[in-house]
Amino acid sequence: MSRKILFAAGEGLPYIKTGGLADVIGSLPKVLAEHGNDVRIVLPLYQGIIDRHYGELERLGRIRVQSGWLINQPATIYQAVTDGVTYYFIEHQGYFERGALYGYVDDGERFAFYQRALLDMLGFLDWWPDIIHSNDWQSGMVPLLCHVCFGGDERYQRIKHVFTIHNLAFQGNFGVEMLPSCLGLDYYYFDNGSTRFDNGISFLKTALVYADKISTVSPTYSSEILTSQYGERMDEILRYRREDLWGITNGIDTVEWDPQTDRRLAKNYGPKTWKTGKAANKAALQKELGLEILPDTCLIGMVSRLTEQKGVYLISQKLREIMSANVQLVILGTGEEAAESAFRWMENEYRGRAVYYQGYNEDLAHRIYAGSDLFLMPSLYEPCGISQMVSMRYGTLPLVRETGGLRDTVRPFNQYTGDGNGFSFYTANADDMVYTINYALKQYYDNPEGWDALVSSAFATDVSWEKSALLYEQLYDQMLGR
Ligand code: ADP
Ligand code: GLC
Repeated sequence: MSRKILFAAGEGLPYIKTGGLADVIGSLPKVLAEHGNDVRIVLPLYQGIIDRHYGELERLGRIRVQSGWLINQPATIYQAVTDGVTYYFIEHQGYFERGALYGYVDDGERFAFYQRALLDMLGFLDWWPDIIHSNDWQSGMVPLLCHVCFGGDERYQRIKHVFTIHNLAFQGNFGVEMLPSCLGLDYYYFDNGSTRFDNGISFLKTALVYADKISTVSPTYSSEILTSQYGERMDEILRYRREDLWGITNGIDTVEWDPQTDRRLAKNYGPKTWKTGKAANKAALQKELGLEILPDTCLIGMVSRLTEQKGVYLISQKLREIMSANVQLVILGTGEEAAESAFRWMENEYRGRAVYYQGYNEDLAHRIYAGSDLFLMPSLYEPCGISQMVSMRYGTLPLVRETGGLRDTVRPFNQYTGDGNGFSFYTANADDMVYTINYALKQYYDNPEGWDALVSSAFATDVSWEKSALLYEQLYDQMLGR
């Protein structure tokens, strides 16, 4: 049965991306739409979208947003339709036409506005979703705002709310004065504890209190976050809500990420032609990045935000040991200064064998997934992870730490049965990581048949959204009492 679903999120492909959330917003809704659902997405109209996509947008009209003390602020609504999914964009020059998406002192005010505006937008469109599917703190206040600010309106009260946690560490915690000033809410919601976190308010926690259902992006992460080790101090409320908490593994966009058609590659290839295909892509990548052209050397790739979460300091501590093996290492990413400077040092120290490309670069990311033999992702925690699934799709074996979605998607090589689609280690310890890298290298150099079998199982791994989209539909139906 068809459902009307509105996705609210801080980013989404094909319009704007900083991480895996954008991959999810750009792919799950498409599959839900293919299943016959009416799926729409609402994003802030960032400068980056204006720069690259303005010509594709249709102006629908202007609404007035009642955002706390700021009465009747105007916002213009734009629309675009791609792959059967309607995107709405909320324009507010002062809040969203800036260089970055997040990280400003007034983020609370900016996203309070976005959330009030998206609810006001429904009245303007006169389109009433069955479900609002909010994602991460940027839309965490939506369930409460919908209940309180539109209390007398049946059309709003009928809407059910699901909130997906993509990363519990990003919580949207702000001062309590935000309640009346930006959200138009009474201090009552602080006093009753429902928005309170430390001595301020938390957008994320509020979602955990008010959403009808909560989901997160892998089964393992859904149980990890009930513990104090992974719970980011939200574990208590999560344990309280555990009956309503679902863990559904992400998929990837298998059309966007397809080595058989990917135009960014030096040569296209598939599960049957990967040997020559990957060899050509490896040579092209080595050439592009100024590495020695060594066809037989194992090339390890990494594409990541360079933050502690991603285990980058396990790598930076062990660069000498890693590079003492017969390997080449390519790292693409930006992030914390300490990690960036360690990788700059690496590039200098191991010219021709190691490259650090500082920046965000979609095209190069595709070529690294295609040209590498191993993909390194030693995350300290990982709600799901998109990169390890992309690398499997490109026949590149992921080497991961067994946490969150990495544990749910990567089956480590078993030397007795030959089974597996990658490599993994359990303890967040740099020695264990190095041990596992050397173990993988041993398979690469000494057990070529075993390696080929692993690559074949990586290609055969189902990384599409098909199964998980059905689970989301079950979740929606449970909320709708269907
Ligand atoms: P997270 O969302 O925590 O950053 P994911 O693995 O879920 O991690 O998703 C990361 C996504 O962002 C992947 O699609 C990856 O290819 C992409 N990505 C990360 N860093 C870069 C970069 N520097 N350049 C291009 N793409 C990147
Ligand atoms: C977050 C998580 C990542 C996940 C992505 C999409 O960025 O860090 O593990 O894959 O969201 O759900």
